[in-house]
Amino acid sequence: MSELQTLKDKIAIITGASRGIGQAIAAAFAKQGAKLVLSASAIENLQETAALVEKETSAPCILTQANVSVGDEVDQVVKKALDTHGRVDILVNNAGVTKDNLLALMPERDWDEVLSTNLKSVFLFTKACTRPMVRQRSGIMINISSVVGLTGNAGQANYAASKAGMIAFTKSAAKELAKRNIRVNAIAPGFIKTRMTDKLTSDQQQKLADYIPLGRFGAPKEIADVAVFLASEASNYITGQIVVVDGGLTI
Ligand SMILES: NC(=O)c1ccc[n+]([C@@H]2O[C@H](COP(=O)([O-])OP(=O)(O)OC[C@H]3O[C@@H](n4cnc5c(N)ncnc54)[C@H](O)[C@@H]3O)[C@@H](O)[C@H]2O)c1
Repeated sequence: MSELQTLKDKIAIITGASRGIGQAIAAAFAKQGAKLVLSASAIENLQETAALVEKETSAPCILTQANVSVGDEVDQVVKKALDTHGRVDILVNNAGVTKDNLLALMPERDWDEVLSTNLKSVFLFTKACTRPMVRQRSGIMINISSVVGLTGNAGQANYAASKAGMIAFTKSAAKELAKRNIRVNAIAPGFIKTRMTDKLTSDQQQKLADYIPLGRFGAPKEIADVAVFLASEASNYITGQIVVVDGGLTI
């Protein structure tokens, strides 16, 4: 079966891999034969994902701990991947947080935390992976943005700004790195069923689902399937793009 695996032996770093979309991407990449370097703010949070990955592959999975907004910790994750495998083929910048509030009530620290976790982290990981990818003359980066980075959202000025920043960053990095055979793309999910959206009441979730042409929230696997496509040779001529995966929400 191995010849059917689209990411066979590719070395992939995935941030925020402890649950939700990051966990689904880890499982999908493992199924396609990738060797994973998983990152989360605490190693113990990665045990569940590691167990899922083990079901898909016998390849060892490396677990790393890092606050994605701290440069030295990010560098250690990339170093671990390089020390173990000698290369990094795929980077998925997935870790993210929300700290929703109306603008007038939003504490400065919540602005800073959301921008650091969601956007500065992308700069730090991209920078750390660029040098090895340039040396390899190949690389793939996938940034998990959001539809609110395209549309804005009341009560999410910090989150929407961070996700819009990721979109401009993705396009800039794609232009800068294309000649090095490094592709950089983003996925903009709509509402996906994870702990992030579990914060909404069931009434809020129903009202939102009614707005979505496909009539439901997405599943983490439906984002992971697109990440597999963007990480594979099937998307070789795609860079600098924002793939909206939202059940038609933003049509
Ligand atoms: N769920 C949705 O509807 C939705 C929609 C659009 C975009 N997204 C984006 O998808 C990504 C994954 O979200 P999710 O829904 O799976 O959320 P989640 O809350 O289930 O998972 C977020 C992950 O990020 C990690 N993380 C947060 N802060 C971190 C930090 N400082 N250092 C290291 N890791 C940190 C968490 O530990 C967790 O693993 C996020 O970037 C989110 O903004 C989600």
